[in-house]
Amino acid sequence: MFFAHLAKKSTLWWAKKIAHPTWLLMATVLTSNSLWAATDNDYWQLPIPPQGDAPQTHHPVTHDISPESCALCHKKQADEWQDSYHAKAASDGLIGQLHYFDQDSAENCLSCHTPRSEQIEDWQDQSLKFKATGIDCASCHLRQHQRYGANNKPTPVHGTVQAKPLFKKADFCSRCHQFSEGRGLKLTGSFLENTHQEWQQSKWSKQNKTCQSCHMPNGSHRFKGIHDAEMTRSALTIKAIRKVAGFSLSLSNQFAGHAFPTYATPRIIVTLTSHDGKNKKNHIIQRQLFLDKHQSLQQKVDTRLQAGETITLFLPLKPHQQATANIRVEPDHFYKQVIYPYFLEESDEVLDQDDKQAQHLLLKAKQVNRDYTLYDIQCPSWQQKNHHCTLSPQPPKGDLMSLPKDNSTIKNHLPSRRN
Ligand code: HEC
Ligand code: HEC
Ligand code: HEC
Ligand code: HEC
Ligand code: HEC
Repeated sequence: MFFAHLAKKSTLWWAKKIAHPTWLLMATVLTSNSLWAATDNDYWQLPIPPQGDAPQTHHPVTHDISPESCALCHKKQADEWQDSYHAKAASDGLIGQLHYFDQDSAENCLSCHTPRSEQIEDWQDQSLKFKATGIDCASCHLRQHQRYGANNKPTPVHGTVQAKPLFKKADFCSRCHQFSEGRGLKLTGSFLENTHQEWQQSKWSKQNKTCQSCHMPNGSHRFKGIHDAEMTRSALTIKAIRKVAGFSLSLSNQFAGHAFPTYATPRIIVTLTSHDGKNKKNHIIQRQLFLDKHQSLQQKVDTRLQAGETITLFLPLKPHQQATANIRVEPDHFYKQVIYPYFLEESDEVLDQDDKQAQHLLLKAKQVNRDYTLYDIQCPSWQQKNHHCTLSPQPPKGDLMSLPKDNSTIKNHLPSRRN
């Protein structure tokens, strides 16, 4: 998540921990918990109150609530979760930034990234234990050692698992994936994190396809998203067609339940180029933000594809020209290009040990490269009729491509044969 006003870290030791107005406001609301008084939302009081002692009726092995412990009996979920970004939410990029915030603001960050009170206490005690887990099994399933899930399950091991309808609802995810009034930044009228609202406005909410339907298929705990190439491919239908006048590329957000992409961090770059390099077109898909001269976050333009939205790019070509297209995904773009460099600029100062540690983490986060090519597309020269260009790799779902139904208008424009 981003902050509203980046105050430059001062070289004065006493001003090192800076307070950010937005975060202080958020912290207040978070602790007063006023927006989440409704019964279901009590479940997501953040940070999650301490679990306390486990009941003696629970088998001793289940008193330990670490993911390693759950894994003893729930191996499938544990293996899947281990690969997820929830397991990695105490990332270098997060921890590196914490150093530059005052305590309240830092704890506010942690309340979503390592949401259990025990984890935050570990952080306060400067124990690195809190890093290991991120958003773990207990964060989602345990309150005062009571297990909750989608269904009732009587088990002597750790007591009956209690069913909560919330587990089947999008609201379960929204506490962290949607900002609300007084909690989080709004730019140009919409929250910086707006996934739930985007979903609500899409057809998916009407069809009762929840976040879990797409992100937890068959109970999967991988929580795949923009960092997974296959998942991202599954969001789009693509039409790449060689027409007489050039190369037409349509991208349609048919299968993401929110904007493609939902967050402001990822950047998707679409490049169309003729073989001879003479014709070129670039298009960026992103909610594009920048820091103005007061170091305040502003929105330049939002070119994301809302759910159901299609864009068509067209590269004019002579009939004999061939062309290629490349669609590239940079999942961590804004953090790597703007936020981490912002903090790293401080490096010419005299650094103490804590500063060095923070800079080391941010540098690591900046250097991680998770970019990938979504598609490479080869487009032939004009061959007397509309022609599919070749996608590599193949789109995941059946035949998503179809030619425009009526070719007649195009035929009218056929170039006369060259001698
Ligand atoms: C010693 C073994 C053991 C450990 C450790 C354990 N569980 Fe379980 N858990 C069970 C058994 C047995 C069931 C009942 C399974 C069934 O009936 O399908 C169960 C059921 C569940 C369910 C309901 C599953 C369903 O199918 O609806 C959830 C959720 C759950 N456990 C969460 C956890 C979490 C979270 C942890 C770690 C904090 C944990 N358990 C640790 C044995 C264990
Ligand atoms: C981000 C929240 C979240 C995290 C983290 C999480 N779970 Fe779950 N879990 C859920 C939800 C939501 C469901 C219900 C999914 C459904 O029914 O669609 C669920 C379902 C389950 C079930 C029931 C079986 C099933 O497939 O429905 C078990 C068992 C379980 N989780 C264990 C774990 C274990 C063990 C961990 C840690 C390794 C874990 N969960 C981490 C949210 C979470
Ligand atoms: C306690 C807060 C919290 C809850 C509850 C939560 N998430 Fe997340 N989620 C996060 C955070 C923080 C990240 C970013 C993790 C990172 O990359 O550091 C994240 C990342 C993700 C990602 C991104 C993966 C990627 O490739 O970037 C997906 C998908 C996701 N969550 C889905 C869900 C779904 C579905 C639910 C509900 C079942 C849910 N989350 C519940 C906090 C939460
Ligand atoms: C309301 C919950 C919430 C709070 C509070 C929050 N984040 Fe996040 N953060 C998220 C979610 C959710 C994502 C993933 C968003 C997505 O991919 O759509 C995320 C992603 C990130 C990421 C990118 C993934 C990674 O871990 O490398 C960083 C870095 C980050 N947040 C840092 C922070 C910092 C620093 C703060 C405090 C100033 C903070 N967050 C406060 C929910 C939160
Ligand atoms: C109809 C399927 C579908 C539904 C419903 C859905 N998603 Fe997604 N989601 C996707 C696909 C596909 C992607 C990968 C493409 C992308 O990033 O937009 C994705 C990506 C994400 C990401 C990665 C970050 C990013 O910037 O895109 C997060 C976080 C996320 N979803 C959270 C949620 C939450 C929270 C909900 C419920 C409010 C939800 N999703 C509902 C399909 C879905």
